[in-house]
Amino acid sequence: KDAYENLLIERHADGYAVVTLNRPEALNALNSALFKDLAHFLDAVEDDDAVRCLILTGSGDKAFAAGADIKEMADQTYAQMYKANFFSLGHDRITRFRKPIIAAVNGFALGGGCELAMLCDFIVASEKAKFGQPEINLGVAPGIGGSQRLTRLVGKSKAMDMVLTARMMDAAEAERAGLASRVFPHDQLMDEARKIAARIAAQSPLAVMANKEMVNAALETTLTQGVQFERRLFHSLFAFEDQKEGMAAFVEKRKPEFRGK
Ligand code: CAA
Repeated sequence: KDAYENLLIERHADGYAVVTLNRPEALNALNSALFKDLAHFLDAVEDDDAVRCLILTGSGDKAFAAGADIKEMADQTYAQMYKANFFSLGHDRITRFRKPIIAAVNGFALGGGCELAMLCDFIVASEKAKFGQPEINLGVAPGIGGSQRLTRLVGKSKAMDMVLTARMMDAAEAERAGLASRVFPHDQLMDEARKIAARIAAQSPLAVMANKEMVNAALETTLTQGVQFERRLFHSLFAFEDQKEGMAAFVEKRKPEFRGK
């Protein structure tokens, strides 16, 4: 169980798991085998009630992930890329995952690494984090959603600046621009990420999923459609015992005990 060549998995009793990209010799470059491992792990925990939130981070002191694996891609032909639908596996599996994933960006998040961080639900960053989409230096372009997600997160001007010049954003700029939600001193990043994950894991898992679904809908709909979707989903939460428990606990001035029912 949880034995992967390219990932380290630590399940915590507080209801979260830490997933560490584990190719430190290649700055955690994302190859097909790693994406396969990640997709397999997400399949394994999707229905596991003991895992209610994930933290995704990189091994070593330098990188979250320095991009898709350039050495794996270098000799690929168009026919091979097209047939394999290259990058669809990781991208599509992560976007379908219904529990929160926090990206704890501990260093370089470049190219596919930045895209992987943006595929997570939010990004917390170490002061040493560096974000970039430098694919243009290789004669290519983002390929795991970066041109679309970066633009939605930081706006067209900064996104265009990043992809055309390949410059890196440091953690302070990433937070200012709305790419990272919070920045922590490097040596406190994982402790803080764990606190956040434990806090989310203590909530009603049904409400957590609904909140995630609603916020994600904001990127896919008009405002009117999004508000309508929110309202219906909000109403539906009253079908769950967790709503009764959460509100009763508030009235009775005690801590709620959510059961995911
Ligand atoms: N793919 C494969 N190997 C990589 C890699 C990558 N994206 N990034 C780093 N590595 C490897 C290096 O080749 C090196 O291996 P060797 O020791 O075998 O030579 C090892 O990791 C350490 O890297 P460096 O010696 O380069 O470390 P550094 O500290 O001098 O530089 C860096 C760090 C600036 C991040 C530099 O490694 C770098 O520029 N990496 C590539 C960044 C990049 O271009 N990312 C985009 C990739 S394309 C992409 O992601 C496509 C997409 O959108 C889907």
